[in-house]
Amino acid sequence: MAMAMAATSSPSFPKNPNFSIRPKNPIWTQQTGLSINASRPKKPTSITCTATIQENPTTSTTRSQDRVFNFAAGPATLPERVLKKAESELVNWRGSGMSVMEMSHRGKEFLSIIQKAEADLRTLLDIPSNYSVLFLQGGATTQFAAIPLNLCKPNDPVDYLVTGSWGDKAFKEAQKFCKPSVIWSGKSEKYTKIPNFDSLEQNPDARFLHICANETIHGVEFKDYPDPRNKDKILVADMSSNFCSKPVDVSKFGVIYAGAQKNVGPSGVTIVIIRKDLIGNAQEITPVMLDYKIHDENNSLYNTPPCYGIYMCGLVFEDLLEQGGLKEVEKKNIKKADLLYKVIDESNGFYRCPVEKSVRSLMNVPFTLEKPELEAEFIKEAAKEMMVQLKGHRSVGGMRASIYNAMPLAGVEKLVAFMKDFQARHA
Ligand SMILES: Cc1ncc(COP(=O)(O)O)c(C=O)c1O
Repeated sequence: MAMAMAATSSPSFPKNPNFSIRPKNPIWTQQTGLSINASRPKKPTSITCTATIQENPTTSTTRSQDRVFNFAAGPATLPERVLKKAESELVNWRGSGMSVMEMSHRGKEFLSIIQKAEADLRTLLDIPSNYSVLFLQGGATTQFAAIPLNLCKPNDPVDYLVTGSWGDKAFKEAQKFCKPSVIWSGKSEKYTKIPNFDSLEQNPDARFLHICANETIHGVEFKDYPDPRNKDKILVADMSSNFCSKPVDVSKFGVIYAGAQKNVGPSGVTIVIIRKDLIGNAQEITPVMLDYKIHDENNSLYNTPPCYGIYMCGLVFEDLLEQGGLKEVEKKNIKKADLLYKVIDESNGFYRCPVEKSVRSLMNVPFTLEKPELEAEFIKEAAKEMMVQLKGHRSVGGMRASIYNAMPLAGVEKLVAFMKDFQARHA
């Protein structure tokens, strides 16, 4: 069923006819098709979006007027059609007479939910059969410990490639359970780059090479992956903030892990995709809840799992398949990110994105203002236009627009129009 849906027509993305900005004196008509006031109005131009979202006819839905465009880094916006589906099933899930929140995790209803979620995720990412999929708890932060506990002995060397704060946190946690080294760090350049892989001095004895595939705070994303040159050729990736945003060759990785709350569901679910031969070697001190073998043997049902969160992830996976799968999703993500980076790059320095162009994230777009004193005003005015959570992470400041899968094109178009208008008034 899921396969059949994935194979359906490649959707076209007609421009949203209901999205409009109404200036008195329009002279800019950019690629977005939007126009804004050229004169420098004192007041912000009102940007409206009455939007029936038509990015994909098979999944189109009416956008509620009272919902904001939420640019949060996570927990993040979810597809409204998924929320509505969940709403329609909230009290009585498909005739079962109860909510998913009230079901036994061992009952046939919930088993069908978790099995379908796993099957759909396998289809989406084309996960080979020699990989297990685990639905766990504790966030990606818990995996920072679980990975070395399961893959290493206490004296094993491990390589960490640190391209941002999350990779650094993973490295620091691993110090408790193995002997990790940072083989490259972007810290001195404020985490704006990814190194050339050939120049990396990997330890041939390292148990694995760890990367963070997308640094959520700094907006740095791997476009390709280094070949692990350690003896077991194991690459481990934290994909929390770009999970299911594009196709990935899972077979290149020993372990992929991700918190759900950015691209695929609510917080509370952590997904681990692990090659089966790496399961079963946990250190003796490993708590039962961190032991992959326990979770694998029990199909993620060793203890009570985050049932509702898993159900929501399942609805998101269905939705992604209905959109045509991750190739189509990636196309949309590229289109959205291009719009945003373009307005930054063409602003004559009014907006700046510090990240090296070749590794800019499709998911998290950090930017600063030439005049930092305007940042608070930018955020305040954007919020009035129903665009929220644009403040950069407290550790780096500036702004950050997270444009995960569920951020509609209309949301990015609206932000871009607002940014041009803001610049016209404040440059
Ligand atoms: C890339 C990355 N890794 C790890 C984490 C930590 O995730 P959690 O809060 O689910 O533990 C985050 C959270 O934002 C993240 O973005």
